[in-house]
Amino acid sequence: MGGRSAEREISLKSGTRVLAALQARGVDAHAFDPRDESLEALKAQRYDRAFIALHGRFGEDGTIQGALEYLGIPYTGSGVMASALAMDKWRTKLLWQAAGLPTPPWILLGPESDPADVSKRLGLPLMVKPAREGSSIGMSKVTSVEKLAPAYALAARYDDVVVAERFIDGPELTAGILGDAALPLIRLETPREFYDYEAKYFADDTRYLCPAGLSAESEAAVQRVALEAFRLLGCSGWGRVDAMLGGDGQPYLLEVNTIPGMTDHSLVPMAAHAMGISFEDLVLDILERTHVG
Ligand SMILES: Nc1ncnc2c1ncn2[C@@H]1O[C@H](COP(=O)(O)OP(=O)(O)O)[C@@H](O)[C@H]1O
Ligand SMILES: [Mg+2]
Repeated sequence: MGGRSAEREISLKSGTRVLAALQARGVDAHAFDPRDESLEALKAQRYDRAFIALHGRFGEDGTIQGALEYLGIPYTGSGVMASALAMDKWRTKLLWQAAGLPTPPWILLGPESDPADVSKRLGLPLMVKPAREGSSIGMSKVTSVEKLAPAYALAARYDDVVVAERFIDGPELTAGILGDAALPLIRLETPREFYDYEAKYFADDTRYLCPAGLSAESEAAVQRVALEAFRLLGCSGWGRVDAMLGGDGQPYLLEVNTIPGMTDHSLVPMAAHAMGISFEDLVLDILERTHVG
């Protein structure tokens, strides 16, 4: 837990809670922060397995997964390739598009992009996001042509790959994945412009609806697409797929989180709870799915 990404604080919250759950269930678990301790120290401590509660770069992106494989320590969640791919929203979208899975139309932005042209092709409002960041960091909802350049400049501070994406004005849905199954969908509602950093971790006016209020048929259809999207990237173990429901009733896939939050505001624990799975059982279930390679 911890690490050195922009999501360090959230990771510490997730990790602390996971650690408490493991210890409550009698697992001889200890915190390890790769920001402060070397991988040699991890090796020397002779752990049987690692529950990875890191978010963002150097944790969720395949690097720690690769290091653990090299050290021969089994770990939770997706492997190296799937972690790296899911971290990259642009390449994720390319794969989904190639497989015929629905994702909002997008354009890659560069310093030379013409705001008028981009706005015309995608429509307004649109979303601008750094390809490899999380927690809505560096992301903006652009409501007028003049706001595109500042939105690009902000996103470019976090990544040299910046995606402009069509805004899907539907309800927002997220599907937790545990093993081979999708958990019940959660519908997110926020009075803010979108589900931004504040809404995710601090606001108390964000509403989480589970059940999400879809027909059984529609719920199953979204879960199916989410699972397919997850598997297509090669993801495994557990994770969470974010999507927006379009006016056409179709889910538009946004991204896969291979190490979703496990804080007391987090969505996978909420969806598990709706199925009668306690936080401790969820943590143990994820732990049991550890693998090397
Ligand atoms: N194309 C889009 N249309 C509408 N809302 C979007 C779109 N893309 C992102 N959002 C909003 O921004 C939030 C964060 O976007 P997401 O792609 O999931 O990135 P991350 O969670 O990694 O920061 C989403 O939960 C959603 O509220
Ligand atoms: Mg998201």
